[in-house]
Amino acid sequence: MYAPSELEKLVTVQSLRKKKANGEKFITVALYDAPMAAMAQKSGVETLLVGDSLGMTVLGYDSTVPVTMEQMIYHVEAVARGNKKSLIMGDMPFMTYATTEQALTNATRIMQAGAHMVKMEGGAWLADTVRILSDRGIPVCAHLGLTPQSVHKLGGYRVQGRDEEHAKQILEDALLLDEAGADLVVLECVPADLAKRITKSVSMPTIGIGAGRDCDAQVLVINDILGLTEQPPKFSKNFLVEAEDIPGALRKYAEDVKEGVFPGEEHIFQ
Ligand code: KIV
Repeated sequence: MYAPSELEKLVTVQSLRKKKANGEKFITVALYDAPMAAMAQKSGVETLLVGDSLGMTVLGYDSTVPVTMEQMIYHVEAVARGNKKSLIMGDMPFMTYATTEQALTNATRIMQAGAHMVKMEGGAWLADTVRILSDRGIPVCAHLGLTPQSVHKLGGYRVQGRDEEHAKQILEDALLLDEAGADLVVLECVPADLAKRITKSVSMPTIGIGAGRDCDAQVLVINDILGLTEQPPKFSKNFLVEAEDIPGALRKYAEDVKEGVFPGEEHIFQ
């Protein structure tokens, strides 16, 4: 049985790579405030993502597009105050990294708010930016597959990479970003086989959401874990129904991922 108290030191990019090398899964939760951050890191959640999903889960927008730097900074600061040892990733909002100069300025602000890493959505076009941030000491989490900031270009929240040509492109993007120095990559809503191929091909750990169970880690949004979402996505699960309280739900999520129980067949896309 996994014991949360084992998570004693600050989680780092290096400790996450070591877990990948040892075949040990880790857990990410997208959350937005100090008390949830405190409970998550005490419940064995290694990485906390202050996701721009907060636009939809907390602020009531119908996409992540309206989210601003000021909103992200406010929530990264809150999560940092609640956290002691987990690694905090801060999302870069829509169009705040369209150029390398913008990325450098805005990633600096997210890091200074308390994040240990920034996350950006995009493929090959982001490789130069990833290299420049990484060379200057800013760890980067890439995000491929369903990239919600591009929802209007994608035509909806749909599974990506189902045909071989698109799958090949996502795999090539992952390889390029890995080579450019990305430290992690989120794979969102891609077929399980594609996520498995990417996970085997790249040196950086992969974090899946709707991407099967072969990724190095899983991420879920706190609202989905706690059953707060009116129409929960297929890939999510309400862990509060099997637990007594919020820390219990977070521990159950962490245990189920580490034991290979979550995601189940019903949460996976083929
Ligand atoms: O913004 C977010 O919470 C995310 C996760 C769903 C991966 O990007």
